[in-house]
Amino acid sequence: MAEATGIPAHIAVIMDGNGRWAQKRGLSRSEGHRAGTRTAKALVTRCRELGVRHLTLYTFSRENWSRPKDEVGLIFDLLVEYLRGELQSLLDQDIRLTVLGELADLPFVARQVLSMVMEKTAGCRSMTLNLALNYSGREEILRACRGLAEKGLRGAEITEAAFVQELYTAGQPDPDLIIRTSGELRLSNYLLFQAAYAEFYFTETLWPDFDAAELERALADYQSRQRRFGKTGEQVLPG
Ligand code: FPP
Repeated sequence: MAEATGIPAHIAVIMDGNGRWAQKRGLSRSEGHRAGTRTAKALVTRCRELGVRHLTLYTFSRENWSRPKDEVGLIFDLLVEYLRGELQSLLDQDIRLTVLGELADLPFVARQVLSMVMEKTAGCRSMTLNLALNYSGREEILRACRGLAEKGLRGAEITEAAFVQELYTAGQPDPDLIIRTSGELRLSNYLLFQAAYAEFYFTETLWPDFDAAELERALADYQSRQRRFGKTGEQVLPG
């Protein structure tokens, strides 16, 4: 039986609970998102130090557009502030930034800053930071189908290898570990195709409180699992 002894090559996170964190403290939701951004920043650095090669953060889902306009605006303002403030640090840490999701519908300034940071960090190799933005797992699957259709592939040519090339994560391994904070036990349209063999870690901790010790707990839990990838009794060591 295989034990997941290593550091996951790819960790994907659903950062949930900013609003409840703020409410518990009598703060505005904005303050919750601000605190959540600080947590995200620290997690990026910690994962890079631990040797995680791919980190995906669910930053804004396609469904999040239905939140109040002010809140949506604030999340993108925070994103822009984060990217501007972190560019040098990403370069120093050799971290490449990419986006999973439809960039075209994002606010103009966010698009501009994202494009600039993606371009400047394109050569970084130590870790890839994927921000899932305006992301929907179902839409990603449909988009991949459209991509294959546009290439004129016939049924027999639509293999898993051809399909994954059409996903936003093309060229990256599937997530080994998916973490969701705040006690919600759902996948919420996140990485639906890529999550096929992921291990899940759910915690009651609200996102702004997800610190290095919480990450250690998630990793210890992951490392205690047996990953079989649908097989029985074989040694399957994760990357
Ligand atoms: C969930 O809290 C969080 C989000 C909707 C995404 C916003 C994420 C951040 C601001 C972190 C930013 C990260 C970067 C990299 C800039 P919630 O509002 O759903 O909380 P609730 O369920 O308690 O209301």
